Amino acid sequence: MKVILDMDPGIDDAVALIMALGSRDVEILGVTVVSGNVPVDQGVRNVFRITDYLGRKVDIYRGSEKPLIRDLVTSEHIHGSDGLGDSDLSLRDGITARENAIKFIVESILGERVSIVATGPLTNIAKAILIEPNISSKVEEIVVMGGCFGLTRYAKGNVTPYSEYNFYVDPEAAKIVIRSGARIRIVGLDVTQNPSSVLTRERAEDLRNIGKGGELIYRITRKPLIERGYFELHDAIAMASKIDHGIVAFKELYISIDTCYERGRSYVYTEPSNSDGKALVGYDIDSERFYSLLRETLK
Ligand code: BDR
Ligand code: CA
Repeated sequence: MKVILDMDPGIDDAVALIMALGSRDVEILGVTVVSGNVPVDQGVRNVFRITDYLGRKVDIYRGSEKPLIRDLVTSEHIHGSDGLGDSDLSLRDGITARENAIKFIVESILGERVSIVATGPLTNIAKAILIEPNISSKVEEIVVMGGCFGLTRYAKGNVTPYSEYNFYVDPEAAKIVIRSGARIRIVGLDVTQNPSSVLTRERAEDLRNIGKGGELIYRITRKPLIERGYFELHDAIAMASKIDHGIVAFKELYISIDTCYERGRSYVYTEPSNSDGKALVGYDIDSERFYSLLRETLK
């Protein structure tokens, strides 16, 4: 499968990237970076740091510096001041990303059958849709990590009591993407905060011995695991749901994003009225299967 990874790396974005790089089923056309967990230029540096560590090369595109109309809210308090757990990974001199992530997204989708896995605020994707609405019918699917839909008892907001970070940071962009009519699958906190799926110290120790990728996951999660004892791998679960359709269970629902009263809060309905559009929304996870795929991609 051909994919564009749109991300704001971020520790769990990094794990998603490591998985995609290690999967025989995934061909990464490019990584488009967006401001989110860290500002876009730090996100670009992080993609270079990850791919260099693994001795791999991908095309990296610099995307939006800020959300569509709001100020950026970063989350270094979760991901570390460098976005990768203050892991001291090296960075080559003289690196530069390609400019214009939005143009790359539009041209790729108009050119061939490609999916997007979006694990940051949806600013880049919304801009691409605004510039070229035809991409909505052309894109194979957009897998989104975002939202918190009240479908399980783990669905508690991680910025406000109701809002999930990616939708909170750029709710207008999320609305544009949901309204676009593209085929969308959403993996929200309902699934990714299921305690059976979190990375624990024991799991990190186990992964540590599986190749360079496992070593890297151990390294970037070390500090948060010491501080908190666990770490949620939201974006890696979204990536995994793309690679193996048996990992997350989805149902078709109508959804809306609040851009006024409770910033970024997401709702689900069974009927289309009042909604922004339809999507397949994740409601359950097979965590054993997720970890066995993760181990497999690290070998
Ligand atoms: C999302 O927020 C970010 O901090 C993570 O990388 C993930 O994409 C989870 O709410
Ligand atoms: Ca992310």
